[in-house]
Amino acid sequence: MNIAIDGPAGAGKSTIAKLVADKKGFIYVDTGAMYRSIALYIIENDIDSDNDDAVKAACDNIDIKIKYVDRVQHIYLNDEDVSTTIRREEVGNMASKVATKKVVREKLLNLQRELAASNDVIMDGRDIGTFVLPNAELKIYLTASVYTRAKRRFDQLVEKGETPDLGKIEEDIEKRDYQDMHRDIAPLKQAEDAILIDTSDMTIEEVVDKIISLI
Ligand code: DC
Repeated sequence: MNIAIDGPAGAGKSTIAKLVADKKGFIYVDTGAMYRSIALYIIENDIDSDNDDAVKAACDNIDIKIKYVDRVQHIYLNDEDVSTTIRREEVGNMASKVATKKVVREKLLNLQRELAASNDVIMDGRDIGTFVLPNAELKIYLTASVYTRAKRRFDQLVEKGETPDLGKIEEDIEKRDYQDMHRDIAPLKQAEDAILIDTSDMTIEEVVDKIISLI
């Protein structure tokens, strides 16, 4: 079985998808991590992300592998486990930028489809229900207001001992939404047959229960 979860940054996709995967014995595939790994390579190698030829050359030098350790996804960029490094804010913003490029999206598509073909997966991203897995048995579009998403991120950072700026986080989220929704290739949008869940006023447990009942 394949379950697709799409939605904007910070809607809670990965938290929810992981919990549902654990309860149902599915594998959780985080496709954002794949875009983030390419972004990390671009950042670390000082590549001009606006230069299509340079991004293409980078893609030719990038090998991305996914492995599961105790059912937790680990992502390898040229054999280095980058699962933690890719979580940085600047990597997410760069991921949104490079995700507009055809060469980048094509590179990751096969890997995503192969994982779904050989496993029961719950896969999250931006274009899973609309493009990567159009035949997924269940499609969810998970969203929440910009304020709610920014506040959740703010609280996470405060918990880590950082002193974030809520207004700046809201701005970043709006920018990322716009970029992800308005690109030419596979933009973020709700698939016609996806079920919309707005998590603004829901607890994590409520969202998980709702998806389990839909499954
Ligand atoms: O879900 P995330 O924040 O880790 O994703 C980072 C960026 O990667 C996101 O802003 C857009 C891009 N992305 C994408 O274009 N398609 C996907 N299926 C997943 C992520």
